[in-house]
Amino acid sequence: MARAPLPAAPALLPALVPLASQRPRLWRDVARFLRRKPADPPTRRPRPSFEHEVAEDEFIGWVPTPIRVVRRMLELADIQPGETVYDLGCGDGRILIAAALMYNARCVGIDIDWNRIDDARRRAALLLDRITFQRKNVLKTNLRRADVIIIYLLPSIVAKLMPTLRRLKPGVRIVSHAFALPAVTPRKTVRMKGIDRLHHLFAYRTPLE
Ligand SMILES: C[S@@+](CC[C@H](N)C(=O)[O-])C[C@H]1O[C@@H](n2cnc3c(N)ncnc32)[C@H](O)[C@@H]1O
Repeated sequence: MARAPLPAAPALLPALVPLASQRPRLWRDVARFLRRKPADPPTRRPRPSFEHEVAEDEFIGWVPTPIRVVRRMLELADIQPGETVYDLGCGDGRILIAAALMYNARCVGIDIDWNRIDDARRRAALLLDRITFQRKNVLKTNLRRADVIIIYLLPSIVAKLMPTLRRLKPGVRIVSHAFALPAVTPRKTVRMKGIDRLHHLFAYRTPLE
């Protein structure tokens, strides 16, 4: 027998938003929401190219973090309600959507790729009072307001981010997926299975030492 279709993403999201404080039971629903393709196909507007803004060997394309890894990253980030979470290279915005729903966080997503920002805005359409997305290079981002920073970028660009990360206010949590920050001892490392590979997570707290 054919299964009844799941409600379209925009129909499911309003049901989740008011329930954001009931954490454990909700993760399943948030994961279900994040795994869905938005109901309407993306309209690809012609967008300016961004390739000239970043060196080829410093650019990692979109590799979405599996939802169970997202969950672990947010646990490691120890987010308090109302804190500001940045995802540097936010892709489709999944980490920030989960942070807003599960932790009542304010979120800022940065991505250099216009298409990723368009997708993220569509997915987070009903949360745009809590999540903003900015189309820019992470190296040109002011992180002074950040309480939590999520990173899934190549070591070459992370190395260039380090002077900014070292100047952050004390107590900022940084969680890096796949690559450790250079010359800093993480306060915790996690290795976990994703869908088809192992994931390495590195958690830090400023000041970085
Ligand atoms: C590996 S994906 C991670 C996506 C998301 N954070 C996640 O974990 O699901 C890296 C993202 O960073 C973006 N990106 C790569 N280099 C960037 C840069 N210099 N500035 C801003 N975004 C960048 C890419 O467009 C891509 O969406």
